[in-house]
Amino acid sequence: MDVETALRKMPKAELHLHLEGAVDASTFAELAAHHGLELPPHDQVADLYSYDSLADFLVIYSLVCRSIQTEADFRRVTYECLARCADSGARYVELFLSPESHFEMGVEYPTMLAGVLTGMADAQAERSLESNLIPAINRELGPARAVEFVEMVAAHPHPQIIGVGLDFNEIGFPSADYVDAYRAAAAHGLHRTSHAGEVGPADNVRAAIDLLDCERIDHGYHVVDDPDLVASCVESQIAFTVCPTTTEYTTVWRDLSAPDHAIRQMSEAGLKLMVNSDDPAMFVSDLGNEYVRLHREMGLSLDTLAEMALNGIDAAWIDDATKTALRADWSAEIDTLLAATA
Ligand code: HPA
Ligand code: ZN
Repeated sequence: MDVETALRKMPKAELHLHLEGAVDASTFAELAAHHGLELPPHDQVADLYSYDSLADFLVIYSLVCRSIQTEADFRRVTYECLARCADSGARYVELFLSPESHFEMGVEYPTMLAGVLTGMADAQAERSLESNLIPAINRELGPARAVEFVEMVAAHPHPQIIGVGLDFNEIGFPSADYVDAYRAAAAHGLHRTSHAGEVGPADNVRAAIDLLDCERIDHGYHVVDDPDLVASCVESQIAFTVCPTTTEYTTVWRDLSAPDHAIRQMSEAGLKLMVNSDDPAMFVSDLGNEYVRLHREMGLSLDTLAEMALNGIDAAWIDDATKTALRADWSAEIDTLLAATA
């Protein structure tokens, strides 16, 4: 078996995936036309997904969100997203949803949930793929709204709505500002993660851990600017959900083969990393490709990538008995796959 096939088949968790960033350009164009939304000028549909910074990306991301309006739309994009995860070897997914960006079009939270949860049930039935949902706070709407958002999430409990995230642009919106929202999330028994250190400083990673009490960190790349913080994260083995292709679009580390790429520095420092696809359709990738690129372009060994796949089990918000069972199953499967590449 060739290495690429083995990496694609390798059992994986996907814990950093924005539903709306997983919408194909063609699905986006179709939904936008259906709802009478005007698209930016473009020659080909694929050109809709062109950007060179996090801020530019978030403008188009918000437009994609506007195109998803009905329960059926949410069900469709959720199933399409999860089916692509299954094609990449994902066995368990925790999916981010951006409710704030749908409110702009008057979509109600229960409508979003009904569609997404049905799409998740479809993926479970048809692809045996288990998934849970993480509604994400849009940090650009500020700390007071973040508290209201967490209260809204808590007021609509569901066994598959398991935590909250914090995303959009860190610049001007430091993580420390969201303490009250994260305290409320903890009080409601919700798990906690947050984007930090993607375009913002290492201090955001520190605040996410020390002040927001996050159980894992999304991206986290700027941790490498603070050796003391790296040392304490190595010690605690808090997980970082890194997203290789995203770094080319949103961060200062745009070359996966560069010796100083943050993900390489993080791996070499002994931080606990797991690999994710973030916004796979919008960055023209998928989960399997993220592993393949780390091998081909960053030169990470198959053993390192296997360890990152297993790290996904530790970082997942599932019970300890399930983690133990998955680790045994996946380890055996990975050993067989890697032996077949020799
Ligand atoms: N960073 C910040 N916010 C986001 C992202 C991201 O990569 N994807 C969707 N929202
Ligand atoms: Zn993200």
